[in-house]
Amino acid sequence: MATMTSLIGLINKIQRACTVLGDHGGEGLSLWEALPSVAVVGGQSSGKSSVLESVVGRDFLPRGSGIVTRRPLVLQLHKTEDGTHEYAEFLHLPRRRFTDFAAVRKEIADETDRITGKTKQISNIPIHLSIYSPNVVNLTLIDLPGLTKVAVEGQQESIVQDIENMVRTYVEKPNSIILAISPANQDIATSDAIKMAREVDPSGERTFGVVTKLDLMDKGTNAVDVLEGRQYRLQHPWVGIVNRSQADINRNVDMMAARRKEREYFETSPEYGHLAHKMGSEYLAKLLSQHLEQVIRQKIPSIIALINKTIDELNAELDRIGRPIAVDSGAQLYTILEMCRAFDKVFKEHLD
Ligand code: GDP
Ligand code: NA
Ligand code: MG
Repeated sequence: MATMTSLIGLINKIQRACTVLGDHGGEGLSLWEALPSVAVVGGQSSGKSSVLESVVGRDFLPRGSGIVTRRPLVLQLHKTEDGTHEYAEFLHLPRRRFTDFAAVRKEIADETDRITGKTKQISNIPIHLSIYSPNVVNLTLIDLPGLTKVAVEGQQESIVQDIENMVRTYVEKPNSIILAISPANQDIATSDAIKMAREVDPSGERTFGVVTKLDLMDKGTNAVDVLEGRQYRLQHPWVGIVNRSQADINRNVDMMAARRKEREYFETSPEYGHLAHKMGSEYLAKLLSQHLEQVIRQKIPSIIALINKTIDELNAELDRIGRPIAVDSGAQLYTILEMCRAFDKVFKEHLD
């Protein structure tokens, strides 16, 4: 009997294989679209990249003030067995294993610049990164450029709408789980993340509300009403987060220290103490992975149907180009076919 962890692992593999083949979910009911992923949405500098890093438990994303994230980053986390070293791989650099996460951050920045130039422009073309580690949960996360209200110096006026459209293409998919990030030091009623989430998921069934920067609220104010769901109701619980501040980043405060600090913050907080066990980035990671399991369970029958259709199509395609195949695309098709078969078998076992 396959475990849920290995199921999600298989989903990751299929998503990756589809990506290699150029199935970005553009046309019709593609396999990629049937599989769930988590998209991170919010205003500029709301803490999106910081939250992603905390969920992953590694420092590897460019962060900071202004528009740092300028291309979608599709991040696949693969849980490996204990004892394996953590490493990262980019789709655009298939033969290079990164073990230095500072180098991963630099490559994301460089690869962003390769497409956009050293400008403040954005691009729809995603960067695909996989992280293999015993310390992650199997998840696909997508970091997106921040929603904004005004273009800055060096940007076209259309950028505000361009970013909004780009974000929408990710979050409007029914299989997208929305991580809506709102900073606590701004009114939740004006949150870009909640505005977008409300538009594409009015019932709030696939939106997780995250409040960052609790440590930066004005003295005498707190976010208890928001966190307890009284200000904006979602089907899932709200999660409060304290990420590293810019000063922490400048001082190279590491992830473990940051998590410890965050835990302490909630445990010793007079306002949030009673919510401490439901707050923080580790709790958020757990919540997301549980939700993903649930979604996948519900989707098993439709995914099996889709896989069978894909198997038929791949078989037809392989017959057309003839096998055995030496050429690259044929070999990739064949790999996907094999994976689909394995997948189908595992899913069926799971249904029993
Ligand atoms: P993004 O633009 O939404 O991806 O935001 P970043 O993750 O790059 O964060 C923007 C800035 O806000 C960085 O300087 C972070 O250090 C800071 N920041 C993010 N979250 C928090 C938080 O919870 N508390 C504090 N004090 N600073 C934060
Ligand atoms: Na930023
Ligand atoms: Mg960012």
